[in-house]
Amino acid sequence: MTTQSTERQAVVDAFQHLYYDQPENTWDNTYWLGVPTQKCPLDLWVYQEIIFELRPDVIVECGTCKGGSALFLASMCDMVRNGRVFSIDIEPQRSRPNHKRVRYILGSSTDPDVAGLVRQQTRPKDRVLVFLDSDHTKEHVLNELRA
Ligand SMILES: C[S@@+](CC[C@H](N)C(=O)[O-])C[C@H]1O[C@@H](n2cnc3c(N)ncnc32)[C@H](O)[C@@H]1O
Repeated sequence: MTTQSTERQAVVDAFQHLYYDQPENTWDNTYWLGVPTQKCPLDLWVYQEIIFELRPDVIVECGTCKGGSALFLASMCDMVRNGRVFSIDIEPQRSRPNHKRVRYILGSSTDPDVAGLVRQQTRPKDRVLVFLDSDHTKEHVLNELRA
């Protein structure tokens, strides 16, 4: 490694430590339109760039939690005037935000019935964008990719 890349890696590691190891100041204290959103805002900015460029017809979010990201994705769909959001979680939550573009699905993101439900609601020509933010274990993510 060159000195420059070592220094760069040190900054990345420090940011990782600061951001992920002190969640009460960062991802546990981040809101979109008042709804808790477990995301680094820098990632949300990149989401916005992807949505603007791809203009997806369907967005699938695996892992809803409180619904802040689902609402963020729906807000971006409003701004580009296209897209619906399916957000999947195994845990029901009472206070998730309502939005005309969002449909919450209760179940596992690897359950074939859940994948079937999303597929049923999707037309063959739809451009589909998927965010995997549920169980981050290797096995689960692999199964999500397969689903
Ligand atoms: C990191 S949180 C999601 C955060 C949310 N995407 C956001 O940005 O605010 C992970 C969520 O995944 C859910 N989860 C865990 N295992 C799951 C599975 N097999 N299928 C669907 N959701 C799952 C948990 O209940 C939890 O709400």
